[in-house]
Formats: sequence, C-alpha cells, structure tokens
Amino acid sequence: MYSRIAGTGGYLPRAVVTNHDLEQRVDTSDEWIRTRTGIRERHIVAEGEMTSDLALHACRRALEAAGKDAGEVDLIVLATTTPDMIFPSTACILQAKLGVTRGAAFDVQAVCSGFVYALSMADMYVRSGQSRCALVVGAEVYSRILDWSDRSTCVLFGDGAGAVVLVPSDQPGVIATRLHADGRHVGILAVPGQVCGGEVRGKPFVTMEGGAVFKFAVKVLAEVAEEVMQAAQMPIERIDWLILHQANVRIIEATARKLRVPMERVVVTVDRHANTSAASIPLALDEAVRAGRIRAGQHVLLEAVGGGFTWGACLVKWG
Ligand code: UT7
Repeated sequence: MYSRIAGTGGYLPRAVVTNHDLEQRVDTSDEWIRTRTGIRERHIVAEGEMTSDLALHACRRALEAAGKDAGEVDLIVLATTTPDMIFPSTACILQAKLGVTRGAAFDVQAVCSGFVYALSMADMYVRSGQSRCALVVGAEVYSRILDWSDRSTCVLFGDGAGAVVLVPSDQPGVIATRLHADGRHVGILAVPGQVCGGEVRGKPFVTMEGGAVFKFAVKVLAEVAEEVMQAAQMPIERIDWLILHQANVRIIEATARKLRVPMERVVVTVDRHANTSAASIPLALDEAVRAGRIRAGQHVLLEAVGGGFTWGACLVKWG
C-alpha cells in the first residue's frame, strides 16, 4: 500500500502588497528586495482573517480537485507556525469549519518545513491503512508575527495556504520521504516570545540571522535531496520538477545549481507569494498542477528547510 496525492488546492488572501508599497513603510527599495530575494509582491490577510480561514479555502479546492466530499476526510494534518490561537489546534478549528466530525486532526510545528513534515506523517497513516482520505495543509499568516518597522524581515514574508488530499493507492504516489532536525540552530531563526501570566514575554516577531540561514539552507537542501533520491534508488536526473521552499530565489537557484537541475524544471512562486513558510510548497505545487506543468507519470521532488532547524524532502510520482 502506498499513498498518492489525489488533488491540490491553494488560497491567497485578496490584498497584494508590492515592494513599492513597502518603500512607503520602511527604508527599502523595490530594487534591493528584487535583487536580493526575487520577491516582487506578497498577499496579506484582512483584519480578522485567520489561518483556518485560508486553510478552509485551500482544502475546499483540494477536495474538489480530488473529487472528494469533506465527509470522507478521516485525517487532517495542518502545518502552521501562526495558529489561530494557542489551543485548540488550528486543525480542529479547520475540521469544524469543514463540517468534519470524525477521524484525527492535529497541527504540526516545523516552521517552513511544516508541509514536508505533515506530508511525511500523513503518508505513514495512509500507508498503514489508518487513513483513507487525509487532508495535508500548510497555512500561515506571517504578517501578524512581523515587525513592520524591521526592513530586514518584513519584506520577506507573505500569507497564504495550500493543501493536498492524500489517498491510498497500489502504486506510489509518495515514493520516499526524509526528515531532519538540529536544535542547535534554534537561535538563527525564531519568534522568541511566549505568553505568560496574561502578557507576551520576549519578542513576538520574526528574528533572523539572514546570512547564516541562507548558507544552512543551501547546504541541507542539497544534502537531503541526494538522500531521498538514494532512498528511492533513482538518479536526480529523473526528477521532472523541483519544488523548493520559496524563501529566496537565490537559495532556490543555488540549490538547483548544486543538484544540476536546470531552472526550467524548478517551480518558482516566491516572486508573487514571498515566503509563506509552511504554505509555500503546497501553493507552488497547486499552481504548477493547475497550470498543467506537472503531468501524470512525472517525478516531483518537494524540499523544505526552516526554523528549528528542520529540513526534509518528499519524492512524489504524479498521477
Ligand atoms: O524560510 C527561511 C526564512 N528565511 C530565509 O530564507 C532568509 C535567508 N536569507 C536571505 O534570504 C538573505 O540573507 C536576506 C535576503 C535576508 C539578506 O540578503 P543578503 O544578501 O544576505 O544581505 P545582507 O544581510 O548581507 O544585508 C546587506 C545590506 C545591509 O546593509 P549594510 O550593513 O551592508 O550597510 C542591510 O542593512 O542590506 C541592508 N538591508 C536592506 N536594505 C534595503 C537589509 N534589509 C534591507 C531592505 N532594504 N529590506
């Protein structure tokens, strides 16, 4: 028994904030943001719009694409760093919004690697026969954990959600997955705040050592790609599409170069979405699927890296 992705969905909030808009808020320029990151614009939620709302839209689209009814869902694994509240989980809030009343639902916190972690976990539930229709979701509202006066971070992120429906299959599907974490690097990318005694202690905004994150990302993305291909006993040349976490186009290009995958086979959405953390991979996947770029029988390598540090890869055969 294997699992396979039966449908994808994505959702971006309506408001678009361009680099030029940000020039009005902080000492930055469209030119700096474009040349250092590849980002041109990002979507930002409206007041009151929550992670679970974005997830709901993405899930409805994924269910429709898979030809599934919400009533068939028996597992929801939702990756987010920006939950609606401390508890209950955003997965449970989403479950209620979808009208699902059975099966399991839980959040995964692996920051930007969250979707790859969630997919890897859901794959195990489906392969073991415990789930016959799983929703795997990445959803984020980073705009609420950004210090909008800090130009070194506020220009980098956006809001959005992506989802896939995972079902059992006698053919792979999800061919191989590999996950990693190394907690020694907690300090280089964090939101170092906590709620305590009715107030926020520490800094409730994204803090980052950009250069260190950049170097670490390129190193581990190349390593885990090799590792997952080895597990699948496939040469990297067989990859039809490389979908990397969309943080910075220079990280994407450097990794693709290291892996010798030409940019024509790399999906890029960071220019329009910016870094949507756990949502970036399912959003990029959905866009490429709906554009007809990813076709049946093709091999897609999904790879992410994020705070923790966490990183991982999933090799998927489409169809
Ligand atoms: O999901 C993972 C999350 N994070 C990432 O993936 C981020 C990884 N890192 C990066 O993408 C890059 O390191 C950045 C885009 C964050 C920074 O690019 P960089 O080429 O490493 O620039 P830098 O940090 O070396 O900064 C260069 C200069 C600095 O000025 P000085 O000290 O050289 O005078 C910064 O103050 O650029 C300045 N700077 C800005 N200037 C205009 C930093 N942010 C901005 C800005 N606009 N928004």
